[in-house]
Amino acid sequence: MIKKLSFAEINEIAEKMSEIVKENTVIALIGELGTGKTSFTKTFAKGLGVTENLKSPTFNYCLEYRSGRMPLYHFDMYRLSSAEEIYEIGYEDCINNGGISLIEWADIIESELPKEYIEIKFYHLDEDNRNISIEVKNNEKLEKEVLEYVGFSY
Ligand SMILES: Nc1ncnc2c1ncn2[C@@H]1O[C@H](COP(=O)(O)OP(=O)(O)OP(=O)(O)O)[C@@H](O)[C@H]1O
Ligand SMILES: [Mg+2]
Repeated sequence: MIKKLSFAEINEIAEKMSEIVKENTVIALIGELGTGKTSFTKTFAKGLGVTENLKSPTFNYCLEYRSGRMPLYHFDMYRLSSAEEIYEIGYEDCINNGGISLIEWADIIESELPKEYIEIKFYHLDEDNRNISIEVKNNEKLEKEVLEYVGFSY
């Protein structure tokens, strides 16, 4: 399901989601340029208790923050030329390291994502609103739980 949401509503979802996620969760953030993937990550990080300001991982592909309740790994795959390249940047160590991974442009590495992950899609609407869809891949029960908790119910 796709919902039209304001930035304030999206930020609330990001914060709520940071409260419910368990270790080794992967969150795939998918959407065109400027749709809100980084903004979502920043609000999520704050909710997780991360005190540092997030930097752009575009040139490093992955940045790690350890000041929150769990480690946060922020990936940006935009400049990656092939999905296999992620193994050179320590992708596997990061996503299985007891933390939460948020991956911008995760569609570029879709073939390498774990079986179970949260997928958030962002679609541009106008100045202050976006269309958003949220799914938990291959875990219907968890999807129901997460969507209810963050207030994104059907
Ligand atoms: N949740 C949000 N709260 C407030 N503003 C937002 C939010 N999401 C997007 N915006 C607005 O849209 C702009 C672009 O958002 P953002 O940088 O998060 O997009 P992005 O999807 O990460 O883009 P890119 O593909 O370039 O990485 C922000 O600078 C901000 O003005
Ligand atoms: Mg971004």
